[in-house]
Amino acid sequence: MTTRILFVCLGNICRSPTAEAVFATKSAGLDVEIDSAGTAGYHIGAPPYEAMQQAAKARGYDMAHLRARQVRDDDFDRFDLIVAMDAENLSNLERMRNGRTTPVRLFTDYADGSDAFVPDPYYTRDFEGALDLIERCADGLSEVLRTGKQARA
Ligand code: 4NP
Repeated sequence: MTTRILFVCLGNICRSPTAEAVFATKSAGLDVEIDSAGTAGYHIGAPPYEAMQQAAKARGYDMAHLRARQVRDDDFDRFDLIVAMDAENLSNLERMRNGRTTPVRLFTDYADGSDAFVPDPYYTRDFEGALDLIERCADGLSEVLRTGKQARA
């Protein structure tokens, strides 16, 4: 059965499109459909942030085809799992969910170590650090899907 996963950040031009592109590679062989979106609508229709794209491309992740969109109400019905980049995204999603039971988790719950959120490289300028962490989260999420292992509580 296909597992539908939505990656969410604020603008959908830095962290969540990168999560989508990295997870597209890491989930090879898994029956998943993935997408990404932002809680805010500032960048609707825009491609991922250029510096983020370049850093991702250097590691073999192509995200040039992605375009930003905002989270929609029906995302809670269409997706099996919604994955937030930080606690603010998570609380905005919890507010939108309106009683629906769609699991909403932090991406860092799937990483080894104790990271509590994915820092936004649009502000930190640490694109390599963001990619390192997103790769660890994506490895953990694909392992959970492959093995049925639980995410970090
Ligand atoms: P993201 O980063 O949430 O990782 O896509 C952001 C990029 C731009 C803005 C906010 C967050 N912005 O407000 O322009």
